[in-house]
Amino acid sequence: MSQEEMRDVVELSVDGPVATVTLQREKQLNALNRAVLTKISEVAAAVAERSDVRVVLLRGAGRAFAAGADIAQMRDFSAADAEAFSRLGQAAFAALEALPQPTIALVHGYALGGGLELAMACDIRIAAEGAKFGQPEVTLGVVPGFGGSQRLPRLIGQGNALYLLLTGEMVDAAEAMRLGLVSKVVPQDELETAGRQLAERLLTLGPYALAGVKRTVYEGAELDLHSGLRMEAGRFGLCFAHPEQTEGMTAFLERRKPDFPQASLDEGGAAR
Ligand code: HXC
Repeated sequence: MSQEEMRDVVELSVDGPVATVTLQREKQLNALNRAVLTKISEVAAAVAERSDVRVVLLRGAGRAFAAGADIAQMRDFSAADAEAFSRLGQAAFAALEALPQPTIALVHGYALGGGLELAMACDIRIAAEGAKFGQPEVTLGVVPGFGGSQRLPRLIGQGNALYLLLTGEMVDAAEAMRLGLVSKVVPQDELETAGRQLAERLLTLGPYALAGVKRTVYEGAELDLHSGLRMEAGRFGLCFAHPEQTEGMTAFLERRKPDFPQASLDEGGAAR
């Protein structure tokens, strides 16, 4: 086995409170095969257990974030293989979305098909100038299988989502920004710095409130407005049984910066 083959297809590195997950199938533009998806699930499970990790960055090595599911692996799938593959990817991305820590996708090169679906399973997306986005599944004779038909309309609205899904057209970073697919576009050589700076900002905030925001938004997306508001009120109430609220509000009134207790995720019940 060559050095390249032995290297893990997904690397997790932890630097203090920031974890970086890197896709490492550069030669295939980080095409997502079974091994990559399985590894993403494992990495998400590992990160979920680590209260020292407070922010997760997701990136692709080489010249792309990810150019989609692995077409070579998929071509000869039976219908049952394809459904199982879809479920494998959906489970991996659901595990990422369910992390209590905020996740930031740093997108450069291409985020196509499963690559865009992976980026959409992250909480925040930053794009490098020159990045290209799209759901080209129809050009391959299939529908999306890792959540694109569900997360894209929720993220950018049904009309724009249907445009991208039905045409398979790629859009550039500026158009992705206009559509609301990404929150920021930066020069390519500043992508890592922009990710780091955003992580630093999130590190000043309380992990309990951040996890609570994530959970409230994602759970709310599955509810009608009335039920969502009731759920929000319940979680808002729970915050007042947690030290982050006391510290945040006291710091404001004392005109100082809050110093949130950091290993506090498991206290109370708003976050999980
Ligand atoms: C397998 C892929 C790949 C993919 C690229 N490669 N994308 N292999 N699956 N999705 C491989 C190429 O075959 C090539 O391998 C190498 O990566 C470099 O790619 P090139 O095409 O030579 O590079 P370039 O000319 O720069 O074109 C880049 C590109 C193009 C525009 C991104 O690669 C492309 O169109 N890729 C496919 C994009 C796509 O359709 N994605 C959606 C997949 S379906 P060799 O060995 O020749 O060097 C999907 C469904 C998800 O994601 C749901 C599943 C359940």
